[in-house]
Amino acid sequence: MSASSAALSDAEVERRVSALLRQMTLEEKTGQLTQIFYKFIPDSATPEERIRKGEAGSYLFVTDPAEVNRLQRVAVEQSRLHIPLLMGFDVIHGFRTIFPVPLALAASWDPVLVEQVQTIAAREAHAAGIRWTFAPMVDIARDPRWGRMVEGAGEDPFLGAASARAQVRGFQGPYIGSPEHVLACVKHFAGYGAADGGRDYDSSYIPDVSLWNTYLPPFHAAVQAGVGSVMSAYMDLNDVPATGNRFLLQDVLRQSWGFRGFVVSDAFAIRDLTTHGFARDEQDAAYRALTAGIDMDMGAKSYLSNLALLVRQGRIPEAAIDNAVRPVLAAKIRLGLFEHPYVDVSRAQQILNAPEHREFARIAARRSAVLLRNQGALLPLSKNIASLAVIGPLADSQKDLQGSWSFAGDPSEVVTVLQGIRNKLPPGVSVAYAKGVEIRRRYPSMFDALQNVSPAPAPTAAEIEEQFDKAVSVARRSDLAVLVLGEHEDMSGEGASRTSLDLPGDQERLLKAVVATGKPVVLVLINGRPLDLSWAAEHVPAILEAWYPGTQGGNAIADLLFGDASPGGKLPVTWPRSAGQIPIYYAHNRTQQPETSPEFTSRYWDLPSTPLYPFGYGLSYTQFAFSNLQLRQNRVKAGERLEVSVNVENTGNRAGDEVAQLYIHQQSGSASRPVRQLKGFQRITLAPGEKKTLRFMLGQEELSYWSPQEKKWVEEPADFDLWIGPDSTATLHATFAIIP
Ligand code: NOJ
Repeated sequence: MSASSAALSDAEVERRVSALLRQMTLEEKTGQLTQIFYKFIPDSATPEERIRKGEAGSYLFVTDPAEVNRLQRVAVEQSRLHIPLLMGFDVIHGFRTIFPVPLALAASWDPVLVEQVQTIAAREAHAAGIRWTFAPMVDIARDPRWGRMVEGAGEDPFLGAASARAQVRGFQGPYIGSPEHVLACVKHFAGYGAADGGRDYDSSYIPDVSLWNTYLPPFHAAVQAGVGSVMSAYMDLNDVPATGNRFLLQDVLRQSWGFRGFVVSDAFAIRDLTTHGFARDEQDAAYRALTAGIDMDMGAKSYLSNLALLVRQGRIPEAAIDNAVRPVLAAKIRLGLFEHPYVDVSRAQQILNAPEHREFARIAARRSAVLLRNQGALLPLSKNIASLAVIGPLADSQKDLQGSWSFAGDPSEVVTVLQGIRNKLPPGVSVAYAKGVEIRRRYPSMFDALQNVSPAPAPTAAEIEEQFDKAVSVARRSDLAVLVLGEHEDMSGEGASRTSLDLPGDQERLLKAVVATGKPVVLVLINGRPLDLSWAAEHVPAILEAWYPGTQGGNAIADLLFGDASPGGKLPVTWPRSAGQIPIYYAHNRTQQPETSPEFTSRYWDLPSTPLYPFGYGLSYTQFAFSNLQLRQNRVKAGERLEVSVNVENTGNRAGDEVAQLYIHQQSGSASRPVRQLKGFQRITLAPGEKKTLRFMLGQEELSYWSPQEKKWVEEPADFDLWIGPDSTATLHATFAIIP
């Protein structure tokens, strides 16, 4: 066992922290506040030198367990105070076993699944010596141009908060230091998803009302779930960089929420306070970050070179340094690192290769997929077919199925869609494959640039046409075509923002050409954001959104295509018709007559203002009926709870999953309230003909909001609408009131 079997008491931790602090020099303290990139970014000193001198409290990106042990040994045996290192890594959706990306996991609408996924991710990372993950990423994203939408739970604060809690529980277990778990780090605090123009790292301007009601709730949920650390964001929020933002780091996080863990900057964000034109120089940056509330410096070494000097100059009291060091040491103590700094390398290999982890990745990928269209019940496909074409640049790509943040995964293990289909079908079925088109970024990804990866040579015009024609003729010769289109893994993620939502490159032309063959076409999407599907949504009979589904993606997709599993995921984001509609989200205010009203004129003259697919949308291979919406009370006082029930019945002839979604609307108050807000959901599995009664509770948390007039949280007397149904356009309706 490599961690304590019960949580240490606060008093015990405090005692040990104080005892250590008393022995530490100022330099050793700043060392504990320093986290250094391992290899990924060059350093002027070797890790051994740094660790021996006590200049590094943490490394990030050491993923080989033997190397973890080697470096840990230097810390524990050769540094003066023997303080172990805290090894950090971006364990975002798996370590060796890669699970679906976070946006996909959110599409499962299944927090229990999300918790299980992160439990496995933690188990693998822990086995390899990682004790700290930079996750969950809980940034609300309402602009699909922003590449990092893929890393979060989408647009909604209620779904986002559920995902945040589930992930914190999964990573950390019941307490920090639980066996086979790691410390979580909720990020990027806060408002990062509102970047101007969807440009990664760009400024966010967020009024208080949206900050409190939309952007902060998932962070608060993570803090309430006991998250041990927080990462500050890169951008400036309302002109104050998040990494020097006293309002966020002190007023909100420490004072209002009582957070007691430690705060790490994002990589180089302290140094970049100068880039922002906020800090005068690097010393001023260190001063501002520390005094604002950043405890640990990721990557920049700005604390290492400046904090001791600032104390000696009398600008920062040593007690402020101690306050930053305390929660860092406390985390190391709670994690059991002092007792068990090393990992068992052969056990690590076993855990990293555990077949049950791969099996769970397959389940997670099945549950994350969203069926967007299924005309004429084309899906599920029969296995009794003679021939099938599998076409597209992502159809046989292992790396792309992993998605971003999968550095410790092994792409050679990934089951591609082509392979998954081949595994599924009897040997007699002919499965032909053609890539059809190449897709590429115009500018290299930051990860390729950092690692000096040069782009593959571009094909010639003749090669392009030959490849294209081959794909079309393969389709022509088959009974049916499965097109696997979308975005390479480096097209969604950090530094992967886009101006357009089109299928990159020539993919839509390929899709049109294959549809024109007259063969039935299934479109499988591999991507991390909504794409422009306006044409496909009218002309392609079946569309399955598989996101980046991970190591077992191909098998899971084949399970769904051939009916061995039934799609039941729902969109965690509103799906625009075109990039021109951005930002578009379901929880908007009603500022004029709705599109359905006779008085409506127009918003855009070239497109409806409604989305292509609404938030919460997703089909199944069966049908469901919602009925008998009952409110136990129609009038409640503020602070009381309201019980709601509804029946859901599977009216089709296959088993399937439905996600019952509850939305409310406050009809009047001290501020305009969104037309709908998600306030409850449950994913259930029903056999054909089966009916279940579901119960939901609404209390103060669901019924209050932060009022921009009152400048505080209020639960106001008002009439409310309530809907329950399969997505955010649910029609089954009731009303209730909060009375004075
Ligand atoms: C920068 C990213 O913004 C952050 O999410 C990540 O955790 C760090 N780099 C470390 O990789």
